[in-house]
Amino acid sequence: MTSSKPFLRALAGDTVRPAPVWMMRQAGRYLPEYRELRIQAANFVDFCFTPSMAIEATLQPLRRYAMNAAILFSDILVIPHGLGQDVAFREGEGPVLDAITDAAGIEALQPGAVNERLAPVFETVRGVKAALDEKTALIGFAGAPFTVALYMIEGRGGTEGTKIRRWAAEAPDEFGRLIDILSEATTAYLIEQIENGAEALQLFDSWAGLLPESMFRRWVIAPNRRIVEAVKAAHPNIPIIGFPRNAGVLYRDFAVETGVDGVSIDATVPLEWAAETLQPICTVQGNLDNHVLLSGGETLEAEVGRILDAFGNGRFVFNLGHGVLPPTPPEHVGRVVDLIRARA
Ligand code: CP3
Repeated sequence: MTSSKPFLRALAGDTVRPAPVWMMRQAGRYLPEYRELRIQAANFVDFCFTPSMAIEATLQPLRRYAMNAAILFSDILVIPHGLGQDVAFREGEGPVLDAITDAAGIEALQPGAVNERLAPVFETVRGVKAALDEKTALIGFAGAPFTVALYMIEGRGGTEGTKIRRWAAEAPDEFGRLIDILSEATTAYLIEQIENGAEALQLFDSWAGLLPESMFRRWVIAPNRRIVEAVKAAHPNIPIIGFPRNAGVLYRDFAVETGVDGVSIDATVPLEWAAETLQPICTVQGNLDNHVLLSGGETLEAEVGRILDAFGNGRFVFNLGHGVLPPTPPEHVGRVVDLIRARA
């Protein structure tokens, strides 16, 4: 049975007009109502683990814009938290973790505790699902193993991944233990999101583009594939979108080999190449530049037009190449949704 939700139809392979749209980080600091809600929590981790707040944050962008999907409000770093690693978010600095530096640190993780520790997230999924109308889909998500491991090993964002890249190169079997632990914990976590109401999933591999080809195959394609296979073994009809950001021409092998239903492409991917190479394999999602969204004006209109021209005649979901930036004027987001709908 085909869904009546445009976003799910596009992931099933239909050409949907007007194109379905949602945006990465559609909930977040660019919205004044988000900032107001956010200051009511002591910190970002508490915010993510308080279902009433996370439900409200998920729904805020849907009250302003006719998005075709809601994305669960949470963070990819709830998995290290669930594994027992200390995770904090410092204002203006981003995430700070008690970095893992050796094999003993990997073995001290507690994979068996993850779904129990993340129970508030599943409560949020149920609450959001109950609030959505029959046209809007609910996307669950997790970070892919390499990207989550990067924060666990570097201890923070904003690095070039020097520590993780050295560890993966110098002791691949040891590093592989961490990737295995993350692959299993992430699979169980995503299955639980589905069983609480998620209708599609996205795997964020934001730092995939740091790796050379051979390591991309081992630390990005293989674990994403393993998770996709295991989740689909339990729930074959839930579509999965992969996002190996900055993968360049390796997006093709990623799409073929992981078995994802869709790939989310970053803003550097040439439109014609993606339409010719990726769209025959799976649904393409993307790829408006988030700085163009921030700037607005004629450039924004032209870029939205180019993306719709390139992908609008095939299986496609409109999105950004990366998340909405905090200084983005909210009306620019509304303008994009209007432009897409006007092209029906
Ligand atoms: O609207 C949505 O997209 C859903 C919620 C969501 C958040 N983070 C909320 C968030 C999602 C899907 C994520 C994914 C995420 N988190 C990724 C993958 C996507 C990407 O951006 O590459 C990554 C790498 C993270 C890790 C993370 N979380 C960082 C590096 C930061 C700090 C940078 C920043 O923007 O502050 C966060 C914090 C975070 N996650 C915020 C939000 C709304 C801001 C925190 C705040 O409100 O104080």
